[in-house]
Amino acid sequence: MKIHSSMAAVLPLISAAYSEAVKSCPSEASGACYQVSVPTTTSRSGSGEIFFQLSGPSSLQWVALGQGQQMAGSNIFVMYASEDGQNVTVSPRAGVGHREPMFNPETQVSLLDGSGISDGMMTANVRCSNCESWAGGEMDVRSSSSNWIWAVKEGDPLQSDDQSAEIERHDENGEITFDLTRAAGGSSMNPFEDAAPATATASSGPSQGQSSSPSMMRRNVVIAHGVLMALAFVLLFPLGALTIRILRSRRLVWIHGGAQLFAFSIAIAGFGMGVWIATSGDWGVNGSHQIIGIIVIALLLLQPALGLIHHVLFAKHHQPTAWALGHVWLGRSLLILGMINGGLGLRLADNTTKGKIAYGVIAGVVGVSYIAVVLTAWIRGRGRPGPRDGETGEKLTEARPENSPMGSTAASGSLRT
Ligand code: HEM
Ligand code: HEM
Ligand code: HEM
Ligand SMILES: *[C@@H]1O[C@H](CO)[C@@H](O)[C@H](O)[C@H]1NC(C)=O
Repeated sequence: MKIHSSMAAVLPLISAAYSEAVKSCPSEASGACYQVSVPTTTSRSGSGEIFFQLSGPSSLQWVALGQGQQMAGSNIFVMYASEDGQNVTVSPRAGVGHREPMFNPETQVSLLDGSGISDGMMTANVRCSNCESWAGGEMDVRSSSSNWIWAVKEGDPLQSDDQSAEIERHDENGEITFDLTRAAGGSSMNPFEDAAPATATASSGPSQGQSSSPSMMRRNVVIAHGVLMALAFVLLFPLGALTIRILRSRRLVWIHGGAQLFAFSIAIAGFGMGVWIATSGDWGVNGSHQIIGIIVIALLLLQPALGLIHHVLFAKHHQPTAWALGHVWLGRSLLILGMINGGLGLRLADNTTKGKIAYGVIAGVVGVSYIAVVLTAWIRGRGRPGPRDGETGEKLTEARPENSPMGSTAASGSLRT
């Protein structure tokens, strides 16, 4: 029950922390939509490539997005049907007032995979390498309220590959404010690839296999790594550890051991992903997050052995063991380190402020509850005879005289100070 409600609370919060693009469909009538995505490397350094997507029905002659607050001085991108009618042309232009913007060859734009005309929809996935500043202005890629403009024109397809093709004045126009802090994504090559026209992936046979690009897959692995690790260290390990202090069962040790091994297997899966992310990209295994992560996972390997050795000895001699002391304190330290490392990971991945806060709050609540439970168990156990009674969860259950015929032996065993 406890596990259920806290899981339900934590999962949406964790996933809400991930956002790759901000989107706006400012005019329902025209059906045009715009998205902007800022790669992690760009948002971290404050400059670099940005990605955006323009889309709209092919009943529109052109669809445009611009950086700025008004036509004059803005950095504009106009999309229209290409000559063959299968793809689109993206034309970077400089806004010069209330007239046709001028083609601007200085702007470094490229049309990416997933662009094209399909099912009556035009889509342009665009990368711009020098859009943080232009002749008429500049844009803060980390701004939470960045100013953009848009405009659309209805009419027959232009069908031109010429980036300086003549266009007519818009039917509709307006402004968009994007929160670019929410647009920060992973180190993607093309964040919109998965948004390719549905038919393009649906019609491709099994021979063509994967529908997502390497960069999308990479992003998904980063998310899976974060979610699995957070799940293991913030939720499963602490709950599994607390079973020892909360539950009363003759099989308590095995419930605890099983729960922890389950959490550990999730952490191992997350570890494999972490190593893959670190070694296959530009991270490497040299940051504090990666090193602490490796240390935590390596030392966790000792835990099952320490726990088991203690249990076997305890079952024989009914005495607290140094193994338990090691197991308990190593376990607690590693859980704390792991939780902290999750925070370092969020920082490394440049997760949103919301995501970091959500993680911090959940980790904090779990940490405080954990301490409360352990302290309560310890205080309760203090009144009883025997060395370190409260500290030893096993004794609280197995050494109770009514538990088994062995009970009295266990109790007298523990009375020998
Ligand atoms: C042949 C091309 C164009 C002509 C002749 C033109 C002309 C005009 C004119 C006369 C206005 C003021 C009246 C009104 O609001 O309609 C205006 C406003 C506007 N236009 Fe354009 N425009 C052109 C292309 C574009 C493009 C490609 C964009 C792309 C983003 C755009 C975005 C806007 C916006 C946001 C406004 C309102 C803000 C402002 O006054 O600057 N226009 N345009
Ligand atoms: C206690 C163990 C660990 C925990 C709790 C943990 C948790 C996390 C979290 C929460 C993120 C943020 C993901 C996101 O915001 O999208 C992250 C990112 C990352 N982790 Fe870990 N991690 C652990 C171990 C490791 C290990 C052992 C490695 C590699 C050797 C590693 C490599 C990475 C890398 C490279 C990123 C950044 C990914 C990117 O933005 O491209 N992690 N980790
Ligand atoms: C990765 C695996 C494991 C982890 C991370 C882990 C972690 C922990 C932690 C943190 C505690 C202390 C709870 C507290 O704060 O009071 C604990 C207690 C305990 N664990 Fe584990 N555990 C693991 C596996 C096992 C296994 C496999 C066994 C035995 C089969 C075991 C047996 C015990 C016992 C008997 C105690 C109570 C010790 C005492 O207080 O006397 N654990 N464990
Ligand atoms: C449109 O052109 C871009 C850039 O050359 C390409 O990546 C994309 O696959 C093309 N789309 C179609 C449907 O051919």
